[in-house]
Amino acid sequence: MKSRNFLIVGNWKMNPDSLTRAVKLFSEIDKNISLAKNIKAVICPPSVYLPALHALKSKRLTLGAQDVSEFFDGSHTGEVTAAMLKSASAHYVIVGHSERRAYGETDDMVNAKVQQALSAGLKPIICVGEEKRDEEGHYLAFVKHQIERALAGVSKTSLQSIVFAYEPVFAIGSNRALDSRSVHEMSIFIKKTIVDFFRLKSLPEISILYGGAVDPLNAFGILGDGQADGLLIGRQSLEAKNFAEIISLVKTI
Ligand code: PGA
Repeated sequence: MKSRNFLIVGNWKMNPDSLTRAVKLFSEIDKNISLAKNIKAVICPPSVYLPALHALKSKRLTLGAQDVSEFFDGSHTGEVTAAMLKSASAHYVIVGHSERRAYGETDDMVNAKVQQALSAGLKPIICVGEEKRDEEGHYLAFVKHQIERALAGVSKTSLQSIVFAYEPVFAIGSNRALDSRSVHEMSIFIKKTIVDFFRLKSLPEISILYGGAVDPLNAFGILGDGQADGLLIGRQSLEAKNFAEIISLVKTI
């Protein structure tokens, strides 16, 4: 059987509170983790820290950003373009995180950001996920809609550069991740939505990560029984030992 590939992404959000601490945390993670050929670890720090972390020349950790401008250029105070992130050594960028959507980021903006990322050679990690579940299954239509809107105008060939992160909003920041069975169901559902959207003949080689309250105790189940292709980790990526422990668990799958 083909060995599975895993992508483990740390989303530092608005942490740590100084460049010195960012360098320390990154170095600690770098020192503690041991990877395997089929595992890739990505850290998405606040973008101002990217150049200093890149300068540490880690061979194990890849860098990503947490957001990107929907614009290619122009007068947009406070915005950072995909090309700027790329030139600051980001390889990935999280797009459409629920915390950004909560500030009013629309599906159209997410789509524009995906396109900007792809044309600059960044791999977008597109976040989708429902706020709540309902017995009628409306949440499935909601997630499907988010995926379709994010992919509008994107070519089939770009799929190899795209990652999805399924993050049920109610699990983010909570102390309870979604159960493995539901993670598995959503992973299949997202893949099927992509197959239908592009009218593919077989399942695409696309990673569907899970995010929301991942920790060293539940990571194994989410990747094992849950069949997620990786994880998007918030709080536990700020704990070097725990992040490294999660990656050690991946090696045992
Ligand atoms: P959490 O955050 O792991 O702290 O729940 C996940 C995320 O927001 O990506």
